[in-house]
Amino acid sequence: MSFLELAGTRHSCRSFRHDPIPDNVLQSVLEAARLAPSAVNYQPVLIIVVGDGELRDSINSSYEKDWIQNAPVLLVVCGDHSSAWRRSDGKDYCDMDVALAAGYMTLAAGDIGLGSSWICDFDAMQVSKLLGTPSHIEPSVMLALGYPDDAGVTASPARERRKALDEIVRFGRYV
Ligand SMILES: Cc1cc2nc3c(=O)[nH]c(=O)nc-3n(C[C@H](O)[C@H](O)[C@H](O)COP(=O)(O)O)c2cc1C
Repeated sequence: MSFLELAGTRHSCRSFRHDPIPDNVLQSVLEAARLAPSAVNYQPVLIIVVGDGELRDSINSSYEKDWIQNAPVLLVVCGDHSSAWRRSDGKDYCDMDVALAAGYMTLAAGDIGLGSSWICDFDAMQVSKLLGTPSHIEPSVMLALGYPDDAGVTASPARERRKALDEIVRFGRYV
C-alpha cells in the first residue's frame, strides 16, 4: 500500500476484537514512534503501555466513553517538558513532538492491520496520578489500539471526510 493509500483509507477505530496484540506487532507500532522526527532531535516523548488489569480499569475511568474498555492496549503518549526544544520566544514544541510520534504510530498500526484512535479528552491529572508521572512528564495523548471489530466500523475513509485541498492551501501570501 502506498503512503497516500494508507493515509487516505485509515480512520479512527473505536470498536475492537478481544484478540491480544502479539508482542512483535506492538513493538512495530512503538518503533514507529521511535523513528518519528522531533524538534532538534531532542526526542522528549515517553510512551507508557497499559494492557489490562486494575491500573487499566482506573485509566479507563479517566475517559467518559465506554468504548475505551474494548481496546486491548492503551498507549499513553507523554511529553517530557524538561527536555523538549523551546524556541527563543519560549514556545515549547513538546506537544508537536508527541503528536508526531502518535501520528506515526496510528499510521504504522493501520499499515499492519491494527485499528487505533486518539483520545485526548481524558482527565490528565487523574492519569498522571495513576501512572505516577512527575510534573514535567505530561500524559498528552492516549492511543487505543487493537484489531478492529469490522462489525463496528462505520467511518468512511479519511479522504472522503477532509476539506478540499484548495481550502487548506494558499500559495504566496494569506490574502
Ligand atoms: C488531537 C486529537 C485529539 C483527539 N481526541 C479524541 C478523543 O478524545 N476521543 C475520540 O473519540 N477521538 C479523538 N480524536 C480522533 C478524532 O476525532 C478523529 O481523528 C477525527 O474525527 C477524524 O476522523 P478519522 O481519524 O476517522 O479520520 C482525536 C484526534 C486528534 C488528532
